[in-house]
Amino acid sequence: MGLENKVVLVTGAGATGGIGAGIAKCFANEGARVIITDLNEETVKSTASAIGEKVTGVVADAANQAEMARTIKDITDEFSGLDVLVNNAGIGGPKINFDEISTSDSAFSGMSDDVWDQQLMFNLRTTFSSSHAAVPILAEGGSIINIASIAALGPTVSLPAYGAAKAGVVHLTKTLAMELAPRRIRVNCICPGLVWTRAWELLTTQMQANQPELANMSQRQIFESVVQEMTPLGGEQTPEDIGNLAVFYASENARMITGQVVAVDGGISVK
Ligand SMILES: NC(=O)c1ccc[n+]([C@@H]2O[C@H](COP(=O)([O-])OP(=O)(O)OC[C@H]3O[C@@H](n4cnc5c(N)ncnc54)[C@H](O)[C@@H]3O)[C@@H](O)[C@H]2O)c1
Repeated sequence: MGLENKVVLVTGAGATGGIGAGIAKCFANEGARVIITDLNEETVKSTASAIGEKVTGVVADAANQAEMARTIKDITDEFSGLDVLVNNAGIGGPKINFDEISTSDSAFSGMSDDVWDQQLMFNLRTTFSSSHAAVPILAEGGSIINIASIAALGPTVSLPAYGAAKAGVVHLTKTLAMELAPRRIRVNCICPGLVWTRAWELLTTQMQANQPELANMSQRQIFESVVQEMTPLGGEQTPEDIGNLAVFYASENARMITGQVVAVDGGISVK
């Protein structure tokens, strides 16, 4: 795909089996130099070395412009440039930790201002702050790839703040695509459907807390029943399904594609 030795930064890619790690793996398979970030040093470094020797793990908060600017400066000093930014950091689940989950706080009726702000910070400001830090540095002909969600494309009653944040990511994609077109930097978006990651472990834990009829099912069984009910193509999506589109967006094959939003969801969003 012509991505050999391109410098690629993927935010929020420290979780084993997460979408970010899958995206990083797809770029590494193309011979790219990949830098992944996350909030926890141990996990980001071990995930990086598990993916491959051309992958580096760095701690940086994607929602903090100054921290991301420092990280990007370090990257450009070491690898002389930045070609691709993938804004993957987010919290697909209702909270970032299992012990913070309660029965009502992700639904509209029980949502506090703090929970609303936290969801927008994790799922929208991350994309703004990281992009803001990267834009002055990104190479001409480079690319930004934003990871939104099918929750951006239509309402999910149980996820009002997450859906609003991801709809914001879709909108920011189009705005930045226009802003950066004169520099030939393309900005595109991927909306994943149902991918079994830590985010879904958190989400199914929340579902169980709210729905007593799910008490005897495992988290994985709950996820599989959602996949079966919702997906026309009849299967879950993998982190690599998302990574394959990210690689295409970043490649010269997509040189005339910008401001676009594609759902990788087995047809869920078409129903
Ligand atoms: N799993 C799905 O089915 C699904 C569906 C649609 C969209 N998504 C989106 O895909 C992306 C990846 O989700 P995932 O399912 O792999 O979840 P995940 O929880 O496995 O991974 C997300 C990672 O982002 C990190 N992160 C969160 N905030 C951060 C910050 N401020 N700075 C740096 N790192 C941060 C977390 O620590 C975590 O490691 C998210 O944006 C999510 O909203 C996931």
